[in-house]
Amino acid sequence: MTKASVIVDDAPIGTISPRLYGHFAEHLGRCCYGGLWLGRGKGPVRSIDGFRSDVVEALRELPTPLIRWPGGCYADHYHWRDGIGPPASRPMTLGMSCGLRVPDDHGLGTHEFLRLCELVGAEPYLVANVGSGSVQELCDWVEYVNTSVETSLARQRASNGRPEPWGVRLWGLGNEAWGCGGSFDAATYAQEYRRAAAMVRHVDPQAELVAVGLEDDPLGPDSVERDWNSKFLATLGPAVNLVDHLSIHRYFIRGGPEVGFGEDDYYALLREAEDVEQMIERIGKLVAAASPSRPIGIAFDEWGVWHPEARDWGPGSVERRSPATFEQANTMRDALAAGIAFEGFHRQCRVLSMANISQLVNVLQSPLVTSGATLVKTPTYHAFWLHRAHAGAEAVQVEVDAEAVGPGVAALSATASSGPRGITVTILNRDYRRPTTVAVRASGSASSCLLLAAGSADSANDAAAPERVAPRNLAFDSSTAGSCSVTLPPHSMATIEFMADQPSQGTSRG
Ligand code: AHR
Repeated sequence: MTKASVIVDDAPIGTISPRLYGHFAEHLGRCCYGGLWLGRGKGPVRSIDGFRSDVVEALRELPTPLIRWPGGCYADHYHWRDGIGPPASRPMTLGMSCGLRVPDDHGLGTHEFLRLCELVGAEPYLVANVGSGSVQELCDWVEYVNTSVETSLARQRASNGRPEPWGVRLWGLGNEAWGCGGSFDAATYAQEYRRAAAMVRHVDPQAELVAVGLEDDPLGPDSVERDWNSKFLATLGPAVNLVDHLSIHRYFIRGGPEVGFGEDDYYALLREAEDVEQMIERIGKLVAAASPSRPIGIAFDEWGVWHPEARDWGPGSVERRSPATFEQANTMRDALAAGIAFEGFHRQCRVLSMANISQLVNVLQSPLVTSGATLVKTPTYHAFWLHRAHAGAEAVQVEVDAEAVGPGVAALSATASSGPRGITVTILNRDYRRPTTVAVRASGSASSCLLLAAGSADSANDAAAPERVAPRNLAFDSSTAGSCSVTLPPHSMATIEFMADQPSQGTSRG
């Protein structure tokens, strides 16, 4: 047993935008087709407007503030006109992403995706095709989706069932333009971006535009320019004001096998999740220097664990699944990696403008997995759920005193926020082996403590045991005012709510 303490300070860091709890749904493997979308026909699994009802309900419960779509690498092959109009007249094209080439019937198109967002209460984020599309095609998509002017595209939208515009704010101009999105060099992408962004802004001056950036420790081929971000921003010159967000992707790939990993692998993966914060800080500084008078947000719009079994590239001496399905185990360790990432997101909430875990259903570190008629909530789903009170709240400073358990890994970490009902503190016992007793001090009175724990760090949920790893109440001692003591099992996460003390109703003495 180790001991640790957490003191929640009142010093505010900034508002945690709900966009930091965003998601990503790509037409890749069983994410969109099979996971989200069933189509309009009758089938054994219940659906609502073509989407799996159980998935929609689970996303409402999370909640789900933001969804990025349709890719990923898929976006730079996607032609939006293929996905509107009567389903029977939509073309069958090659659906391409990450080396996959599959028949794509375009059943899930613009209207359907935007309906999903309405069903779950999410803000949509559309990624447009810069790799193989034209600027006119992009402008037409923005006009079709957003214009309130009586144009032919607005009439076409109405004849397809949607008279009023959707008013989508977030538009990505390409995806990974340095790689699958066209293998651009930074200067050429900057020219393409400047032209496309200027024309989109004419169509919709309210559009928030996301440019393609690059993580600063990329794994990709040597041809990728390591100084992509500074070259891209410098080439834009004054047109840097056309960038609202810079898209950065990073996957955690150094944790060894998806299950059956050892202690070193366990800590290696957690360290990778921890490194994200410094990357955001570094890129944030670079971006602030390039645009000193107008902030550009970091859009961390693809992140998460990508285990070696689910990819054919990068480190990991395990057998790779072939053909690739991009599906992988999702364990308690992955939930902790998400929790660590959230801690960094909260501390960096003034520069980080959104974050989208990769991906929403079935693919990579998905919160949800479908198995026939069964829906499984993964430990990562529960990590999101345990953090739900932080979304939209004010991040506040925490002081943690805990021993180190591995190089660069403290036994305990914490994050806290102040919301309308009081203070919420989420604590992670990262220790692989030992429980930790934690004294948490915050203003107010501890009113609940929910724990996410598992018998082993590689425990997961599946159709046979969908509740193996699920939140449960944890006993806590709050006999000392403003303090709460809990004992967390190894490799676990807990959220404690402190309710603000009500001002006393007594008569004041003059
Ligand atoms: O999420 C899977 C893929 O990873 C995306 O299509 C691409 O953007 C990234 O390389």
